Formats: sequence, structure tokens, C-alpha cells
Amino acid sequence: MRYAELYAGWKADPEAFWMQAAGAIDWVTPPSKALSDAQAPIYEWFADAEVNTCWNCVDRHVEAGRGDQVAIIHDSPVTRATKGITYAELQARVASLAGALRAKGVEKGDRVIIYMPMIPEALEAMLACARLGAIHSVVFGGFAAHELAVRIDDCTPKAIIAASCGIEPGRIVPYKPLIDAAIEAAAHKPDFCVIFQREQQVARLVPGRDHAWHSFQYGVAPADCVPVAGNHPAYILYTSGTTGQPKGVVRHTAGHLVALAWTMPNIYRINAGDVFWAASDVGWVVGHSYICYGPLIAGATTIVFEGKPVGTPDAGTFWRVIQNHKVKSFFTAPTAIRAIKREDPAGILSRDYNLRSLTALYLAGERADPDTITWARQILDVPVVDHWWQTETGWAIAANPMGIEPLPVKLGSPTVAMPGYDIAVLDEGGHPVARGELGAIAIRLPLPPGTLPGLWNAEARYRKSYLERFPGYYETGDAGYVDEDGYLYIMARTDDVINVAGHRLSTGAMEEVLSGHPDVAECAVIGVSDALKGQLPLGFLCLKKGINTPPDQVVRDCVKRVRDQIGPVAAFKLAVVVDRLPKTRSGKILRATMAKIADGQPFKMPATIDDPAILDEIAAALKGMGYPVAA
Ligand code: COA
Ligand code: AMP
Repeated sequence: MRYAELYAGWKADPEAFWMQAAGAIDWVTPPSKALSDAQAPIYEWFADAEVNTCWNCVDRHVEAGRGDQVAIIHDSPVTRATKGITYAELQARVASLAGALRAKGVEKGDRVIIYMPMIPEALEAMLACARLGAIHSVVFGGFAAHELAVRIDDCTPKAIIAASCGIEPGRIVPYKPLIDAAIEAAAHKPDFCVIFQREQQVARLVPGRDHAWHSFQYGVAPADCVPVAGNHPAYILYTSGTTGQPKGVVRHTAGHLVALAWTMPNIYRINAGDVFWAASDVGWVVGHSYICYGPLIAGATTIVFEGKPVGTPDAGTFWRVIQNHKVKSFFTAPTAIRAIKREDPAGILSRDYNLRSLTALYLAGERADPDTITWARQILDVPVVDHWWQTETGWAIAANPMGIEPLPVKLGSPTVAMPGYDIAVLDEGGHPVARGELGAIAIRLPLPPGTLPGLWNAEARYRKSYLERFPGYYETGDAGYVDEDGYLYIMARTDDVINVAGHRLSTGAMEEVLSGHPDVAECAVIGVSDALKGQLPLGFLCLKKGINTPPDQVVRDCVKRVRDQIGPVAAFKLAVVVDRLPKTRSGKILRATMAKIADGQPFKMPATIDDPAILDEIAAALKGMGYPVAA
């Protein structure tokens, strides 16, 4: 079938489309209908079904005779190790871990925080929760103790499952002290922790609270899959919003299964037995959907890669993994490709490997710039597919539907809306703009299965953040346009979220940390363009009157503060002390104008600016830091 027909078919009868897609899932009780809209604008999918995610990811493939197929490959250049786990082994390991969690009191609906590096045990922990109907919340390893504490207090987990350490190139990251500090700082205390001891650094366990991964499972009965309602939360994943309080994106079980099952063949061309690799991290949505759940729902082999695109040991690592494991479809962030291109501009290392298994490269997480796409296409000689989505949606809003009909590529566009998504570009007043005109990108409600039904314990915030500005629509927070052929272009965020190396970060959260410095009176953080990471955060600091601390010292303190409180992943290394910040007459800091100045882009003097002379001071400060400030 062609894309246009498929999309029109969905639009004509979404209920039939999704009920048909639900056929890919093994149900305990099949859904009687797809959409529940009684609580609109809050919607649910397959709410009256009963199902288990782990069964669909693991057990059913063993039953279908795929027990000996490798389910997970751990490829870890940072430990120089590779191993495979078959579906039958995965079933035994997950049932055992789930049994041990259950023996300690974890039940359907309980929350469990998972704080682990890129090891198969991270997926096993997620699946063990799913087996019991427990709701996991995976926290990215690059976040500091404070961020972990915020999440502990928000989702009040019964247990934390963690590894003793992560491994970054050149350093071991001990996780256990971060967990101890987070539990100490949090008001909520989990009942117990399970620690996977890695030989690179064994952690000290707190007697009575902490249990070692293996001994914890000794002698317990393995757990069977617990059926849950279709609208039971499968997980909570925190993502950056405008403040220091992250948003707990909730994912319901049945919609998640149906939507991901639909994407594997139709977007990624992946079926049972194929090898799929998403080089991301389990702490991000890409890791949830396409390292863990998507490929396993499809009965494919997934790769858990513990390394970086460069330096582990070289810029040929990705190509080695593709060759050695015969990867069919590969997914990464444009930043990773830019990092490889910077080290190996002619792509010489790719010639050392046989990449014939590869059929397409998928990019997401940030805007894919045309240079990066063109380079990757030349080096790999396969289609390069940019696709656009968010933590909130869990799967692609716009993509090139390679498994349906590969559409002509337009550089700079993530192609077209996927079935389920009715995209509108709106002006300030909420009216659709003409084709080709820039506006806020919104999606007509209801969002499709697999997308967020709300935020954890924060329905008012959900409504305010996403539903209120454009009634009848979900506000994506991205701005862009649709061209005459229906191709979408994503140009910028409409809020204070920035994207650093494919990681979504809140400038507001960084500002909260900087404001906590005793010498800082006022501050602003903006995202400035960076050739490698897409954007980098840059802080402007106004100091309190009468402060004697040298400005350089305040800058150093502030850099350390952000690293200690948010984590190294914030990549906050640039800050400058200025006398004043440019504001509107009503006191709003003109962050977007400052970012344009830093990037050397033309900008319109905001009509509401209070004192235009301050922009000259900002430009001078940026020029002093080496930015290509426009005259
Ligand atoms: N645990 C602890 N620290 C971590 C971490 C983790 N899981 N992940 C990253 N960090 C640290 C890094 O060590 C680095 O610390 P440093 O400031 O001491 O060097 C910092 O956080 C920033 O990390 P990162 O953004 O990864 O930058 P980098 O300079 O180490 O590597 C790239 C640059 C481009 C190679 C890397 O950003 C990359 O691979 N990007 C792809 C991102 C991606 O896949 N995103 C997923 C979205 S789909
Ligand atoms: P996250 O929730 O971390 O996945 O980040 C989602 C945000 O990343 C989106 O709202 C966009 O701003 C940006 N993003 C993701 N993919 C793309 C893409 N293909 N093109 C442009 N921006 C993207």
C-alpha cells in the first residue's frame, strides 16, 4: 500500500486502523474498542483490554519457537566485552528478577526507579517491572544525585534498581554514592535497593536496605506475567520542561505495545529475526522505545551498546558494530554522526568494514542538518531517514515510512506525518497558517496510541503545558512549517528547552541552579549553536552589588554547581559575567534575541525592549568570548 492511501485510510477511520494494528499484540483480554474519549481532552487507548508487556516482548517469542534466537547483544567497547542473551535466557532471567522483586513486596502499580548504564541488566530490570505490572522510571546515568532525588520524591518508588557504576571513556562513574546521596536528600525513602555489582567498581551495600543483584534472586520462585489493564501505566519517563521540576511523562501499556509494534515494520522495516540497533541510552525515550521495547515486541535482536561514537576506541566503532552483528536498521542522533565526521572526514574507517547488512540509517533527537545527512549517505550508501518525535509521543510524529513506501527525501525535512498524527501549523491566535509559513506545530487531538495520556500526578500541569494554548490540539513546543507537498520542517523550540548532543535540557532548570549561587543576583541561560552538539548552554550572570569574588571565580563555581546539581550531561561549561540583562518593559528576559546575537544571526529589535543599549553590552561580552556577533 502507498503512504497516501494508508494515511487517508487512517484519517477516514482511525478506530478501524488501530484495531487492525492491535492484531500484532497477544492480549489476555482483547480490546472491545480502540479509543476512549469520555474524558476528552484526556484520551485513552484500548483501555478495557488486559495485556502484559513482558509477555509480548519475551515469552511469546519463546512460545513461538524463537527461544534460541539472540534477543539482546551487549557490545561494550568500554569494557572490551561482547555477549548475547537468547530469548529463552532472557525469559528465565527476567522471570527470576521479577520473582525476587515480588518476594520483596513489589506489586502491580508500584513504582521502581532504574538507574543503570548500558548493560543488558537495565533492559532486564525494565522487563521485570513490566512482568509484574510495576511502573518503572529509568533515570539517565549522566544526571546528578539532586535530579535523582527530585524523581524519587515525585514518583515515590518502592525500590531502586541500579548498577554499582557506569563507565565513561577514561573514567568510572560510581553510581552508588549518587544513589545514597539522592535517598538521603529525598523526603521519600524506597523500601530497598537492588545493586548490580560490576567488577570495574564494586559498591558498598547498606545492610538491610541494599541487596546484591544475584543473591537477591537466590531461592525465589520465578514470576509469571501479570495481566494489567490497557490503560495501566507501563512507565514514567521524566523529561525537561521549563522549570527545574521535570515532567513525568506517563505511558499506558496497551497503546505503547500497539504503536511500537506498528512502527517496527512500517517505519524501520524490522521484523522477527532482524537485527536492529539504536545507539542511544535507556535513560532517554529512544532507549525505551527502540533499545528495549520496540525491537523485542517485534521479535528482533536489539543491541545494547556501551560506548561512544568516537574514542571507544575510534571513529570506526559504529561501523564495526554494524558489521559484526549484521545490523539491518540503525538509529542514532545526528550529533553522533557529526562526531564521527569530525574525526574521519573522508569516512576512511568505514571502508574497513563490511556494511552490506545495513539498509537504512535513522536520525532523530535533534534537527538533522543537510550536511550530516549528505555525508552519512555518501559514506554508508543507504537511505538516511530523519524523523521527528519527542519523549511525550514515544514514537515518530513525522518520518519517511520506509516499510510502506520510501518517499523522496527533502533535505532538512523529517518527511511526512505518520498515521495517527494530524499536524497543524498555527499562528499566535491558534489559526492555521498558509502552507510554507512558519508557526507553532500542534497535533489535533486525540494523539494516537503510545503517546502520553498525561503527566504523573500532574494533570493540571499536563493541561497547562500541552492542551490549553490551542484548544483541541496538543502543543508540541516546536515551531516549523509544512511545504506544498505536505513535508514538515522543524525549525526551533517555542519554549526554553534546548537540545545539546541530542539531549533535551531545560535552561530554566540551569537558571534555578545558577540563581542559588550566593553572589548571583540574576541570570539567564541560552542555547548557542555548536558545530558538534547542535547547541550548548551559555550562562549570563549578573552579580550582587558589593561582591568581591573575582568574576572568573564565580563562573568556575557556577559551572561546578550545574555539574554537581544537574549532572555532567548538562554540558554547562560556558558563562560570562555581565552588568545587566536585556528585558522587555514587563521584565521578560530577551533570551531568544541574545541567542540570535551569539549565533551571528540577524534579529529584529523587540518593540517592547526596555533599554536597547543593553544588547550592545551583551554583544560585546559575546564577542569577547569569540562568538561571531553580527554588527
Ligand atoms: N553517565 C555519566 N556521565 C555521562 C553519561 C552517563 N551515562 N553520559 C554522558 N556523561 C557525561 C560525559 O562523560 C561528559 O562528561 P565530561 O563533561 O566530563 O566530558 C558529559 O556527560 C557530556 O556528555 P556527552 O554529551 O555525551 O558529550 P561527550 O563530549 O562525552 O561526547 C558525543 C560527545 C557527540 C560523542 C556524544 O554526545 C554522543 O554520543 N552523542 C549522541 C547522543 C545520543 O545518542 N543521544 C540520544 C538521543 S537519541
Ligand atoms: P526528546 O523529548 O528528548 O526526544 O526531545 C524532543 C525534541 O527534540 C523535539 O521536540 C524537537 O525539538 C527535537 N527533535 C527531535 N527530533 C528532531 C528532528 N528529527 N528534527 C528536529 N528536531 C528534533
